[in-house]
Amino acid sequence: LPFWVVIPAAGVGARMAADRPKQYLEVAGRCLIEYTLDCFLTHPDLRGLVVCLAADDPYWPQLPCAKDPRIQRAAGGAERADSVLSGLQRLRGLGAAEQDWVLVHDAARPNLAHSDLQRLLQQLAEDPVGGLLAVPVRDTLKRAGADGRVLDTPDRSCFWQAFTPQMFRLGPLQQALSAALAAGVRITDEASALEWTGQSPRLVEGRADNLKITRPEDLQWFAALHGQ
Ligand code: CTP
Ligand code: MG
Repeated sequence: LPFWVVIPAAGVGARMAADRPKQYLEVAGRCLIEYTLDCFLTHPDLRGLVVCLAADDPYWPQLPCAKDPRIQRAAGGAERADSVLSGLQRLRGLGAAEQDWVLVHDAARPNLAHSDLQRLLQQLAEDPVGGLLAVPVRDTLKRAGADGRVLDTPDRSCFWQAFTPQMFRLGPLQQALSAALAAGVRITDEASALEWTGQSPRLVEGRADNLKITRPEDLQWFAALHGQ
């Protein structure tokens, strides 16, 4: 199944609080974003890939993959959704069509397994909307008030954690993101933009270790995986 990829990589990594954006932190001699890109660049059905970068990003040009002809750059924006929209616009310029499948995947999510990517592509190939990798919530959930005291314990069986890649068709995804942004709706993933337009993305159960690197302890976990 042919597909395009957009990698939003224009964040500053405020919660990581490192000396550079977290996608450029090194583990075993390679930056996080290089691990992230591997899974897509080794897939035979990849049509093209766009990385969305901060305007003054001095790190990307130094990476070997910056010279890969399958990777193009787009300007990142103020919020993740702005970066993704910019990447989608760039795909148009590369010849991507209205109904082509696009996978959006966080630069800071370096542990995507090939089996998860395959399952997502296979399960959504004929889907009218698209969907995302997700994992059923494992722990008991508590709803709490501002005072930090428990209000109640919701039934966790209907709760999932939303991961990436998120897979939608180019035109509908562009329209949903633009409309949601124009309306001032807070969008933290692609699926929520589609939901806002009344559509119902499909959840594809993935591996629990497809984690986003957000805080220092997440980086320690990923480094330990690579023997560091
Ligand atoms: N991202 C982006 N453009 C933005 C904000 C985020 O492309 N304006 C990207 C990040 O680079 C990251 C992904 O979206 O790969 C997920 O966002 P997040 O984990 O929140 O990364 P940061 O925004 O960099 O981190 P923080 O929120 O802690 O500052
Ligand atoms: Mg952020």
